[in-house]
Amino acid sequence: MSKQSRILCSALQHLVMSAEEAAAMIPAGANVGMSGFTGAGYPKAVPGALAERIRAHNTAGGQPFRINVLTGASTAPELDGKLAEVDGIEMRLPFQSDPICRARINEGTMNYADYHLSEVAQYAWAGFFGKMDIAIIEVVGIREDGSLIPSSSVGNNKTWIEQADKVILEVNHTQSLRMEGMHDIYYGTALPPNRKPIQLTEPDQRVGELYLRCPIEKVIAIVETNAPDRNSPFKEPDDASRRIAEHILKFFDSEVAKGRLPENLLPLQSGVGNIPNAVLEALDSGDYKNLTAYTEVIQDGMLKMLKSGTLRMASATAFSLSPDGIAEFDKDIEFYRERIILRPQEISNHPEIARRLGVIATNAMIEADIYGNVNSTHIMGTRMMNGIGGSGDFARNGYLSIFMSPSTAKDGKISTIVPMVSHVDHTEHDVKVIVTEQGLADLRGLSPRQRAKAIIENCAHPDFKPMLLDYFERACASGRGMHTPHLLQEALSWHEQFEQTGTMRRE
Ligand code: COA
Repeated sequence: MSKQSRILCSALQHLVMSAEEAAAMIPAGANVGMSGFTGAGYPKAVPGALAERIRAHNTAGGQPFRINVLTGASTAPELDGKLAEVDGIEMRLPFQSDPICRARINEGTMNYADYHLSEVAQYAWAGFFGKMDIAIIEVVGIREDGSLIPSSSVGNNKTWIEQADKVILEVNHTQSLRMEGMHDIYYGTALPPNRKPIQLTEPDQRVGELYLRCPIEKVIAIVETNAPDRNSPFKEPDDASRRIAEHILKFFDSEVAKGRLPENLLPLQSGVGNIPNAVLEALDSGDYKNLTAYTEVIQDGMLKMLKSGTLRMASATAFSLSPDGIAEFDKDIEFYRERIILRPQEISNHPEIARRLGVIATNAMIEADIYGNVNSTHIMGTRMMNGIGGSGDFARNGYLSIFMSPSTAKDGKISTIVPMVSHVDHTEHDVKVIVTEQGLADLRGLSPRQRAKAIIENCAHPDFKPMLLDYFERACASGRGMHTPHLLQEALSWHEQFEQTGTMRRE
């Protein structure tokens, strides 16, 4: 297929140029909305060319050249990595997972604001992020009328195109044109008080359009690329992940037996990472059939479930596939196209829809405390890992919110069940179930002290269980307040000790 055939709008064909020429149009200080969600559908060429321009500018001296980078979620080394390496990012939002970005954020040289991913579009519309200058969006192709065939993620692309004064398009020839038809771009959102209900009552319903609208006059450059999405392979589930998955499956079985979940469960939301992927694999090897997913990303595990019939369909905003997963998807797109719908992230993660559908949210965590508060983002309370992502969208609004982690980290030196979390992303009010390889604590209907007993008993590692029990019993005995007993001077002492000595253990 010739390259030209992907840009069918004759009024735009003259705008094809190099990444360097396109990057030259981005001024210092610009607010730039880029495509990209969990390593899928991000622009592959212009950010790198811009990084080179920034490097040259900064080497020559003068005012530092930096831009504000807004995306759907995390991207890849070609975008976050390259721009962070040259210190080209002033403000980054709403999610990242890049090691160089992370280092800059934690050393204080990059501003970062992580938001519930469903809320980013409305924040942009409300003007909280300032005026959007430029959108850089990867697409699969441009149609005769200038509308765009979305790529392997939708994210905030609709909003960035609508909000930006100017649009740079990257047409990626590696992304398959056979993806056309998978997307559902909803154009009915509005700010309050003009908001209307979103008429989506089943995960497989379509409420939008197949293509992104893009006014021709906004487009200032088109860059053709030929590069795959870049995601790491998933690790084979380790023993801890497998045991976590077993506990969750047993829990689902018992909820079905009690009539609290239907036989095909409720729409699944599955977070990013190896543990959620292990849960999907376990579900796939069990007896469940005709499940649905109303989730954020499609991981390898979901492709396998679609193939086996465990999953009937999946709605998401992006793929997050390993190289093997991408190869499998490319091989059989026609099969997956009938079973996968990609939507804007404000719809894939919408609280109204997550609540209506009764999503089962399963997400990984960094730590939980004995009362059920969960930290998903901050190592030792201060160092940003990735961000809250969509976990809060689903945890608060889903029917069930399950948080998972091995019971220890860093070779057993850290207990992931602690007296008090060092940072709170999900409060005790949102968290329904906590699971480690040790077991599962069902927190529904329990008071804080009952929750503490259930979490320590079922989830703590045996090496830390006596310390947690000792803390809890002394907190109760202190008589300071029996609703949520704490010893305030000691509550964060486990973290402090780790910072001082490299272990939470007390020999
Ligand atoms: N204290 C200190 N470090 C900890 C820790 C703890 N309690 N728990 C985990 N870590 C470290 C691990 O040792 C590992 O470090 P390394 O990178 O140096 O090896 C790192 O954190 C990642 O942990 P890992 O066990 O590999 O888990 P993961 O890759 O599955 O990530 C989260 C776990 C919580 C960081 C990740 O799921 C996340 O970013 N979640 C928030 C966003 C989210 O939930 N998105 C999905 C919504 S759709």
